Amino acid sequence: MTSPLEPPKIGVRIAGTGMALPSQELTNQDLERVMETSDEWILQRTGISSRRVIDTSKGECTLTLARESLARALEDSHLHGTDLDLLLLATMTMEMGCPPSACRLASDVGAGAIGAVDISGACCGFVYSMNLAYGMIRSGLYRTVAVVGADTLSTYMDYNDRGRSTAILFGDGAGAVILRATDDTSRGLIAQAMHSDGSRWQDLYIPEVLDRDFPPGHEPDPAALHRVQMNGRAVFKFAVGTFPDVIAQTLDRAGLRPDEVDHYICHQSNARILEAARERFGLPPEKLYVNIGTRGNTVAASVPMCLHELREQGRVRDGQRVMFVAFGGGLTWATSLWQL
Ligand code: COA
Repeated sequence: MTSPLEPPKIGVRIAGTGMALPSQELTNQDLERVMETSDEWILQRTGISSRRVIDTSKGECTLTLARESLARALEDSHLHGTDLDLLLLATMTMEMGCPPSACRLASDVGAGAIGAVDISGACCGFVYSMNLAYGMIRSGLYRTVAVVGADTLSTYMDYNDRGRSTAILFGDGAGAVILRATDDTSRGLIAQAMHSDGSRWQDLYIPEVLDRDFPPGHEPDPAALHRVQMNGRAVFKFAVGTFPDVIAQTLDRAGLRPDEVDHYICHQSNARILEAARERFGLPPEKLYVNIGTRGNTVAASVPMCLHELREQGRVRDGQRVMFVAFGGGLTWATSLWQL
């Protein structure tokens, strides 16, 4: 009999992926028409020229994007909703505090009465969830787990001068991955890292209650409620340092050199932050995928959408090593290094 402290020897593989984008495109030129900014400023500071945002008049929301991405991932895996036995939905823009959007998602894809829960980890939510899902499969308790990252930050933006330092960055989207147990124990997680520093929460937050959620030194402002508040410079500095550090920590834990990883699939926050990480490790551009130009920062959706696009292009394949990397509100930072 296996001891509860010694998980059964099980490998974990990525059986399929999917993604979904909302119907509306929001270009830098569209933003120029509603706020004091320019295509040149946005492109130079962030590398973004357009992003996709939901059209609420068509009923689009986090749940609809998550559903479309998960349906595609199931199709890609040649599986049905009934094959799932656990669903983790990484999102910070769930429709309601109750019910968890994951429960409706599980029901919508016909997964029945499986465990389904939202994971609120801001931009790290998907990478955290990959590590959690791996642990659940390795424990022997679950065999087929859906991990979905879906966010619609456009609903927390001011598309006017007030919001010009955040509205330029964020876009909406969803990505999904199906993880399955396999007898091939060489496949699965090689190393990971999960960190947080709640003392820096005020660098990136969404105030909900006027007399509670504004940090010391910030005048409570009714117009800022339900709108992303970000200290862009502080987050930038944090990211440029932390991003490479957490990659180095994970490589160290795995005993691997930077060039022994085939792809670094990173949260798309800002092209300059990604470029700084690439330069630090001397990685060729093809090892660090960048799609922020037409996606913007899609929070928990960015990493699984990159993975899906790379698999569709045939660039990410079984047998390779890939590292998922993210940082974001919390502050949080995390990695998940896989042998596919
Ligand atoms: N268009 C034109 N000017 C703008 C602008 C916009 N959209 N937004 C802000 N500005 C102005 C500012 O008001 C400021 O003017 P001032 O010097 O007169 O005060 C000036 O541009 C510089 O602002 P600053 O915030 O210092 O710019 P920056 O070079 O730091 O770039 C970000 C701003 C947001 C692009 C950058 O800080 C960033 O990318 N940070 C990381 C954010 C991130 O990744 N967040 C997500 C984490 S998951």
